[in-house]
Amino acid sequence: MAQDIVVLGIFAADTAYRAERMPAVGETVAGRDFALNAGGKGSNQAVAAARAGGSVALLTKIGRDTFAALADETWDEAGVTFAGTRVADAPTGAAFIFVDDATGDNAIIVTPGAAGTISPADVEGWGETIRGARVLVTQLEQPLAAAHRALAVARESGVRTILNPAPATELDDAMLALCDVITPNGIEAAQLTGIAVDGPESAGEAARALVARGAGAAVVTLGAEGAVLHDGTETRHVAGRIAGEVVDTTGAGDAFNGTLALALSEGWDLSRALDFANAAGALSVTRPGAAPSMPHRAEITALLG
Ligand code: RIB
Repeated sequence: MAQDIVVLGIFAADTAYRAERMPAVGETVAGRDFALNAGGKGSNQAVAAARAGGSVALLTKIGRDTFAALADETWDEAGVTFAGTRVADAPTGAAFIFVDDATGDNAIIVTPGAAGTISPADVEGWGETIRGARVLVTQLEQPLAAAHRALAVARESGVRTILNPAPATELDDAMLALCDVITPNGIEAAQLTGIAVDGPESAGEAARALVARGAGAAVVTLGAEGAVLHDGTETRHVAGRIAGEVVDTTGAGDAFNGTLALALSEGWDLSRALDFANAAGALSVTRPGAAPSMPHRAEITALLG
């Protein structure tokens, strides 16, 4: 059975440390708390889309190890179909997450493991899954060439494309032209355009620059301030939502992107979809962890009132 939403990306086991501050090199700092959570931007986005009510396939590579078991458990629980590949000669991805105990802000080191070997040929092999979807979403934690190929396969078959350019890297105009929607956060938008993003106005400027280079629409996310959209005709600020105290911001962007994909797969217009995605992001920061923090559809609609 085909899934409406297909996500290309990585799974990572997040080893999350809550502490007052990051240690300096050579220093040891006592932590407040530790958790092992499911993470990886692609997997988080797939979980977010599934919890919000979507039928979702995830294209990735994982190993045959303890962290792969965490991946399977996470996808089973969320109802995500794993449509990728298991390999015996590489580990499943893993990430170090520092969570600032006072603010909930995070700093991350991620290693994709087996997913770091995803190639354009792998993507070709997964072509049927992509062609059967309504929306494809990908990020840049797996090799850039694989993301590029997935966007191209989707575009050739009329599947709507979302690129979440995280972590940001240089993108050529040919790749931008394959994106129906590109969704950098403020830092990524600045890295991609050279425009310092410090609020809705500069976010709009960066969004317009990305559309001028070929993207169909650009959405610059601004955390609690919401998101700024330029769709080629007009620039609009969709205000953020508040769902409670910020506990942990890890995965907020993934909650946003996964639920944006879900909303677009249901045919919503971008402004309504962004309000829904903002609400999902706002809920996710009130809970610890990445995948575990993804909200269910009923919670999102309740917040929207
Ligand atoms: O976006 C948050 C995610 O980034 C974490 O779950 C971590 O695994 C990294 O991929």
